[in-house]
Amino acid sequence: MQSIFEAIKECAKAIDTAIKSEDLGFAKSANASGEDQLKLDVKSDLIIEERFKSVGVIKDIISEEKEGILELHKDGIYSVCYDPLDGSSLVDVNLSVGSIFGIYKDGLDGKSLVASVYVVYGPRVEMSIATLEDARPTLFRLMGDDFKKIASIELQTKGKLCAPGGTQQYWSHIHKSFIDSLFAEGYRLRYSGGMVPDLHQILLKGGGLFSYPGTDDKPKGKLRQLFEVLPFALIYEKAGGAAINDKGERLLTLKPDHIHDTTPCFFGSKSEIEALKSAYGV
Ligand code: F6P
Repeated sequence: MQSIFEAIKECAKAIDTAIKSEDLGFAKSANASGEDQLKLDVKSDLIIEERFKSVGVIKDIISEEKEGILELHKDGIYSVCYDPLDGSSLVDVNLSVGSIFGIYKDGLDGKSLVASVYVVYGPRVEMSIATLEDARPTLFRLMGDDFKKIASIELQTKGKLCAPGGTQQYWSHIHKSFIDSLFAEGYRLRYSGGMVPDLHQILLKGGGLFSYPGTDDKPKGKLRQLFEVLPFALIYEKAGGAAINDKGERLLTLKPDHIHDTTPCFFGSKSEIEALKSAYGV
């Protein structure tokens, strides 16, 4: 898998350069989830596709920006599912964005996920990697031309931050009263609207809860299982936290019916996830 990690590092540098120097306009197309694509989404997707073409162990790729599965190498062993530039509309307002990669072997579901990587493009470029074998995820930072290892990521049992996604108007009563109870207990609001920096902040600041529930307008949530939810579920579990859906099931046990399926999802320190389970009665 090392060859995939090395390719992702190169893609991250190229995407960071594109973010800082290229046109941000719309591409006059929509992605598989019906969202307007920015030129930067399309460019980032192409950067990754081109680089992965030279990594022989990659059997196929599934991008949030593509409708279907693209086979790269018949004899490859891994499927890489990725969101090339998550939260890309935030580039316009100069907030952090990210890329997310899930590396799957012998299937496209939680049980087949063998490694996750995400990259945050902010004032610094940082990358976290977790594999099934690792005790903890590892944080790297781009310094000069190289990614240098900075730390192992470990969540505390209970944190202080709350990142509540989705439109509040459409939250269920249970969800609203649970989030209210966290704020009443002293949790601080941290929500930029970029999944990668929002989850990254909770990981590095010791803990808390990121939630994207099922809502009246989006009963199955918004975040995609293969590109966003499952990769972060592995990172959170490896960091000593937990990641579940609204039925209390580990996200890593999910099996999407379709490659672009979404799910309600909750990521956090163990204590917040236990509190959420009892509030939801699951
Ligand atoms: O998947 C796209 C995304 O931009 C995520 O990065 C982010 O967590 C979420 O949507 C924000 O959605 P909302 O604005 O509905 O809270």
